[in-house]
Amino acid sequence: MRPPEIIETPRLRLRLPVMADAETIFTQYAQDAEVAKYMIWRPHKNVEETRDFVKRCVLAWEDGSAYPWAIERKEDGRLIGMIESRVKGYMMDVGYVLAREHWGQGYMPEAARPVVDWGLAQSGIFRVWALCDVDNLASARVMEKIGMRREGILRRWTLHPNVSDEPRDACCYSIVK
Ligand SMILES: CC(C)(COP(=O)(O)OP(=O)(O)OC[C@H]1O[C@@H](n2cnc3c(N)ncnc32)[C@H](O)[C@@H]1OP(=O)(O)O)[C@@H](O)C(=O)NCCC(=O)NCCS
Repeated sequence: MRPPEIIETPRLRLRLPVMADAETIFTQYAQDAEVAKYMIWRPHKNVEETRDFVKRCVLAWEDGSAYPWAIERKEDGRLIGMIESRVKGYMMDVGYVLAREHWGQGYMPEAARPVVDWGLAQSGIFRVWALCDVDNLASARVMEKIGMRREGILRRWTLHPNVSDEPRDACCYSIVK
């Protein structure tokens, strides 16, 4: 159950990440503390950290542990963020990030919808889900906009080291069939 390597939407192209993306990812968002605020990683201090990350993305496609796509804007070919799905048995979960200058233009719902739709179209996948920090209202809104239902709060579930050293409550969203 391997998703397509390229997914097209009206404004975006989701494609495989390549090592050459590391510089762009670093300068566009990986070093941005505001972007990283509710992520499980700390802002990258140098491009080497981003290279390690991209290397892991490339390997993930090979071993099937995750399917991360670079999100490219068709209009100018710019890499604006990333989205990732992980298939575990009959479930698939999704995570995403967008460079700050591109927030608020509906890009992430546009990127996430076909990824979620692909999961739901697989006969063996019954649950597509995602988590976000209780305070990450923009991410919660993305999930609502793509038709996910809020299931509840997983208390003390996720470490978001840029907010606190202690585990944080997470909102859980899903679509099931
Ligand atoms: C979360 C994120 C991907 C959203 O992507 P996006 O393409 O900007 O999403 P949208 O353009 O649909 O805008 C987000 C929605 O949240 C709303 N929103 C944004 N900030 C908000 C806030 N502080 N409080 C309430 N709503 C907020 C917007 O109004 C918009 O809703 P609307 O279309 O109904 O007006 C982007 O903000 C991001 O990359 N954040 C940093 C990384 C991250 O947190 N990733 C998710 C981890 S779970």
